[in-house]
Amino acid sequence: MNPFGRFDDSKREYVITRPDTPLPWLNYLGQDEFFGLCTNTAGGYTFWKDAKLRRLTRYRYNNVPYDLGGRYIYINDGGSVWNPGWKPIKAKLDAYECRHGLGYTRIIGQKDGLEVEMLFFVPPGENLELWKVTVRNKSKVAKQPKIFTFQEFCLFDAANDMNNLQRTYSIGEVEVDGSAIYHKTEYRERRDHYTLFACTRPVDGFDTSRDAFVGIHEGLHDPKVPFAGQCTNSKAFGWNPIGAHQINLNLAPGQEETFSFVLAYVEQGKEPKYDSLYVMNKKVGKTIVDKYSKPGAVDTAFTKLGTVWTDLLSNFQASSPDPHANRMLNVWNQYQCMATFNMSRSASMYETGIGRGMGYRDSNQDLLGFMHMIPSRARERILDIAATQLSDGTCYHQYQPLTKKGNAEIGGDFYDDHLWLILSTCQYIKETGDVGILQAPCSYADQPDAKTDLLHHLEVSIAYTMKKRGPHGLPLIGHADWNDCLNLNCFSTEPNESFQCAGDVKDSKAESVMIAGLFLYASREMAALYDFMGNAADAFRMRKGYDEMLNVIETHAWDGEWYRRAYDAAGTPVGSKENPEGKIFIESQGWCVLGGAGQNNGRAKQAMESVHKHLFTKNGAVLQQPPYSTYHVELGEVTSYPPGVKENAGIFCHNNTWINLGWCLLGDGDRALEYYLSICPSAKEDQIETYRSEPYVYAQMIAGKDAVCFGEAKNSWLTGTAAWTFVSVAEGILGIKADYKGLSINPCIPKAWKGFTASRKFRGVEYQIEVKNPSGICKGVKKVTVDGKTVTGNVIPFEAGKKVVKVAITLEA
Ligand code: BGC
Ligand code: NOJ
Repeated sequence: MNPFGRFDDSKREYVITRPDTPLPWLNYLGQDEFFGLCTNTAGGYTFWKDAKLRRLTRYRYNNVPYDLGGRYIYINDGGSVWNPGWKPIKAKLDAYECRHGLGYTRIIGQKDGLEVEMLFFVPPGENLELWKVTVRNKSKVAKQPKIFTFQEFCLFDAANDMNNLQRTYSIGEVEVDGSAIYHKTEYRERRDHYTLFACTRPVDGFDTSRDAFVGIHEGLHDPKVPFAGQCTNSKAFGWNPIGAHQINLNLAPGQEETFSFVLAYVEQGKEPKYDSLYVMNKKVGKTIVDKYSKPGAVDTAFTKLGTVWTDLLSNFQASSPDPHANRMLNVWNQYQCMATFNMSRSASMYETGIGRGMGYRDSNQDLLGFMHMIPSRARERILDIAATQLSDGTCYHQYQPLTKKGNAEIGGDFYDDHLWLILSTCQYIKETGDVGILQAPCSYADQPDAKTDLLHHLEVSIAYTMKKRGPHGLPLIGHADWNDCLNLNCFSTEPNESFQCAGDVKDSKAESVMIAGLFLYASREMAALYDFMGNAADAFRMRKGYDEMLNVIETHAWDGEWYRRAYDAAGTPVGSKENPEGKIFIESQGWCVLGGAGQNNGRAKQAMESVHKHLFTKNGAVLQQPPYSTYHVELGEVTSYPPGVKENAGIFCHNNTWINLGWCLLGDGDRALEYYLSICPSAKEDQIETYRSEPYVYAQMIAGKDAVCFGEAKNSWLTGTAAWTFVSVAEGILGIKADYKGLSINPCIPKAWKGFTASRKFRGVEYQIEVKNPSGICKGVKKVTVDGKTVTGNVIPFEAGKKVVKVAITLEA
């Protein structure tokens, strides 16, 4: 039992029944270009496209309490002042419920017979969010509550907002027009956009100065105006502009009133900037407010949001004997994949939105769980990412979503980055059949005018790894590979340096076995792609590269019972029985096995068994063992963390999914499900006080067995775990995978499963799949019928023009 909430599977909602959750439990609003973060107490903020460069509302990270600032509504009911979402006042509520749904959050609070419901969402395709508020008098007496909204405006550049107060305190400007508050700081200079916060009905007052509404020495828990019961109609001039409205209601017993607020990002487009001196032209903003002031407009938009999500999720639905797998796969995992696709690692409760933008390796991997939902957006993203690669193969490690330009501060030289582009591109072509993407024009960051195409990038990527190799013939690691903290060229003794950026990689000799495994996978993908294109010579060339790397791995990376992780700059093995700590790492087991190493010599099985013996726990497999007890200058950040945390032997959920896939490859469906459930948030509800994070989305990390807080999850939402778990369940356990010529079906399920059903849309055709497992095995497709006709092999050939295809599969040894 989880005392804080429960899944409402039929409504696709998570219901939080107490506001004092073990950590703020977050949801995202928006799925296109306008986004909001919204916690179960209505905390969070809003931005358009880019959490750093187009922030609309203000949020202070690492605040006290953790989550403070957001979409606040204050109620003054005859002098009793409270918030329906509990915070910031934290007055005791008679009833509270928060429902996080797909793209919306609904919070209901009740006190002294007055119920206030707030529904927050972003209408599909719009650059605005709506707050629909309903106030119900459930008491037996008439009530005259006063309702106040409050949120703080932020500079569009959120980094500047936080650190350049001598400027920000002097530039704040607003205009008020009826129920609409226009935040126009910096509009006078180089911007043609502004933020609008308006009510859909006439208001009884407003405030735009935080000092007037909250006070100088007061906090959000005891703001002046809501307690005084009267707005001051303040006009912000510098300092901190806010948006606050006042609405006075008069409610008979049983009576309710509903009204809405629009928070919008508005671009002027072709409109003139000003109507007259200092008076901005508000035409575009007014059109938006008018649209949502019409009766029914807000509800229509909300209904449309539901339809959008039903359609998106209908691309993949399954019914298996495992309830956790079902609800996560069918709803929450796909929903989280939308968030990681949109946010990469930029904006969450753990990522401030002013640091990382889109990660090169991260966003490529995020695509693997998104592709089947909206392939056209995946296509655009693949080309954007590729364009941040340099002509020699180096990739910018991150780029800003607004500018699509690489982030020079962190630069490149993470020698795994380029290979992930091959995985996302091949998966995209398999999903869509759109092999034409390979010829899409795509230049390089250092040669913006180059007339190159996407295929050129894939070739450059393969060549880059082949070229950048070290003394054993293994790929060089650069600043780090997937494991950002394995910094073998860093040698940092200066506390203020970034582990990742310090150190010279130019003459580096440190090698990565994980990249070697990833290269096997990527070059095999390239060979299959060339086969599909009918290009035998290039397929052969790719296979030659594959064989060469496989030979290097089997010759230099096998340690006796598992694959080594790396060789450091001095040529000493990392992740070997020779090391006193950090003897075995998870990533090289996952990637060597997935790349096809150890298939004919028993090593794949042995490597996986070593993971089970040394790394697996009831909360997932730890990243390595034993943890490092002291800092090692030659290994970098991995040794900086306390034991059991993050890359130093924490349970990094992302790489657990590669092991799941490894078990599927080896045909052990029992292990695959056991590993899956060990990190599955829905399966953590009965230990939620330990787990602490949201039970509906995967976390990046769960503290490992060496940590004092073993089992505590951190860094939820924005993690590669989302996409890779989708892959490991949908393609690994259920075995349903897009392939060039059709839909491939090769399940690897627990022996006890009698079968499962699934429905998968693929290139416009809906495949209704039924898998039967009469003899209780894990893997082995024996009989396949498609619309009643027997088919050989397990790839259901794609036939355009069909609407529904029925596939029946029987597993047999
Ligand atoms: C974290 C990594 C993360 C990196 C990003 C490190 O401190 O441990 O998980 O990828 O920072 O900069
Ligand atoms: C999180 C980063 O976003 C990702 O790129 C990296 O692979 C993992 N941490 C592991 O270090």
